[in-house]
Amino acid sequence: MFVSENLSVNKENHLVIGKNDTVELAKKYGTPLYVMDEDLIRKNCRVYKEAIDKYYGGNGLVLYANKAFCSVYTCRLAAEEGLGADVVSGGELYTAIKAGFPMDKVYFHGNNKTADELEMAVANRVGHIVVDNIYELELLDAIAEKHGIVQKIMFRIKPGVDAHTHSFIRTGQIDSKFGVALENGEAFEIYEKAHRMPNVDPDGLHCHIGSQIFDVEPFCEAAQIMMDFAGDLKDKLGLEIKKLNLGGGYGIMYTEKDDPVPYDEYIKHVSEVVKSTAAKRGIDIPSILMEPGRSIVASAGITLYTVGGIKDIKGVRKYVSVDGGMGDNPRYIMYQSEYAAVIANKAGAPASDKVTVAGKCCESGDLLLKDAMLQEAEAGDILAVLATGAYNYSMASNYNRIPRPAVVAVKDGVPKVIVKRETYEDIIMNDMM
Ligand code: LLP
Repeated sequence: MFVSENLSVNKENHLVIGKNDTVELAKKYGTPLYVMDEDLIRKNCRVYKEAIDKYYGGNGLVLYANKAFCSVYTCRLAAEEGLGADVVSGGELYTAIKAGFPMDKVYFHGNNKTADELEMAVANRVGHIVVDNIYELELLDAIAEKHGIVQKIMFRIKPGVDAHTHSFIRTGQIDSKFGVALENGEAFEIYEKAHRMPNVDPDGLHCHIGSQIFDVEPFCEAAQIMMDFAGDLKDKLGLEIKKLNLGGGYGIMYTEKDDPVPYDEYIKHVSEVVKSTAAKRGIDIPSILMEPGRSIVASAGITLYTVGGIKDIKGVRKYVSVDGGMGDNPRYIMYQSEYAAVIANKAGAPASDKVTVAGKCCESGDLLLKDAMLQEAEAGDILAVLATGAYNYSMASNYNRIPRPAVVAVKDGVPKVIVKRETYEDIIMNDMM
């Protein structure tokens, strides 16, 4: 009935997440409120881990992509589940450090890491730095020398694969700001250079072709291209690739129109390509890394809002306004993303009303859902937008000086605030008086 498996309706006709009545959560913690189901996050982590065991005999590591939702709590949870971490900024790295995350399992990404960020990564002995370009390579070599270490690295490669997803989140093609391309020789040149450098050890390859992808084919194509490139590096430079990081990007179900392939399926098909190409090229199967973000946390999250004004503009559109919007979920305004929603206090009632849910920001594009079917809404109702666990909290802003919501995690029916609600004092905190 719902897009996420952890949602149900209780006898009061209220939406339930895990074992928690969402109307009670809204009452207790206020709205807007992000709610994350810890049990489902852990379950999602295990799907990937088990697939690595099943298809690669355990020779690999799942890295949780923090950009989807980064907090001290999620870093600790990922560490407890035995995952590594993909971080993409000094801020995400700092969060991981503060959470006590094992630094040797951290992979530091980013297309323009600053000297300060690289320094922070090296000083904290981050396991791998995923280097984006020549400038960064030279910078890093000097920093590693200063620290007297040989830094393990891999380069982000554009495999030239065109994944079918929104152009803003497509990254595997040559026309992308991320990484170095294969087809113009850039990727080979950078490995050749790094191979000769004394303070870096290029022992891996990385690619990430995009996000919210449903087809298996582009992942297989990318894996094949990367393994062939590993073969070329061995043949031409004698350089052995020990780790192959195939990125994230596995699609999730936001609405009934989405039809994701089970993640185990992707990994199975990709593993066949990795193994057959290794055999063909006479190279060892590298340790396999994957970096799911969205598919670990998206379906585990919902956002609760309180309905305010309703405008039924006859013959035009019916707007239902809520107490949040693009500040806590900018995905509609950025990508026209679609979500499913339910009136949490009438969850069992039929969704018979076609409405557009608007946020409270001073921006016409500030919508959460457009022309969606919903239960009849009234002021004071609690609206739950589903599958908001990824790229909502992590992309939230204070536009219009609206404080960001709290995040509550539920586990075994017990709610716990993991990020507190911002206050107006927080909003002016950095203003010089
Ligand atoms: N690894 C790398 C290097 C990435 O760039 C990304 C996502 C991931 C892993 C995780 O991808 P996932 O499994 O979450 O699809 N803000 C956009 C998504 C941007 C994704 C950026 N990179 C959105 O809200 O749809």
